Amino acid sequence: MKLHLADAAATEELAGKLLAVLPANTAGWTLLLEGELGAGKSTFARALITAMGHPGAVPSPTYTLVEPYQLGDRKVYHIDLYRISSEEELRYLGWGELEDGFRLVEWPNRAPGLAGAADLRLSLSYHESGRDAEFKGLNKRGEVVEEKLAMTISGNHKD
Ligand SMILES: Nc1ncnc2c1ncn2[C@@H]1O[C@H](COP(=O)(O)OP(=O)(O)OP(=O)(O)O)[C@@H](O)[C@H]1O
Ligand SMILES: [Mg+2]
Repeated sequence: MKLHLADAAATEELAGKLLAVLPANTAGWTLLLEGELGAGKSTFARALITAMGHPGAVPSPTYTLVEPYQLGDRKVYHIDLYRISSEEELRYLGWGELEDGFRLVEWPNRAPGLAGAADLRLSLSYHESGRDAEFKGLNKRGEVVEEKLAMTISGNHKD
């Protein structure tokens, strides 16, 4: 599914719409957030974490690599692989210990093996003063979410 996000508020709104169609239990789910520097990956992740109930600031995981959240019954891991240079490092990071939560991964292409195990992918790219976005379900359960999200968005059109 493709759409245009005219400004940062539109990126944040998309995060809210995604949350509305996600299953209550997202333990073990992975959402890849792709796009070049400044494409809006953190904007989306922050909005999603806030929408899931986090009341405070959402710090960038660029240096810590992982920022964990417990949001009601939902465990969320906000992950930024920008500084990762090999998949080996991912193992040191304890990737296997993050299975119990919903992983939001910025710069997933730093660890190509990750894509095979992911459920959802949001790709952001610059277009005019805003961004183009492609949201894709990468497996069966991910496709269900993509379909629901597409329905939410097309249902909102006034034309
Ligand atoms: N749809 C949009 N249109 C225009 N600007 C946007 C949009 N979405 C986010 N932005 C703006 O883009 C800037 C960069 O956003 P953000 O930090 O989320 O990018 P990022 O992809 O996480 O960058 P990095 O690669 O450095 O982690 C912010 O100023 C944000 O407000
Ligand atoms: Mg970022």
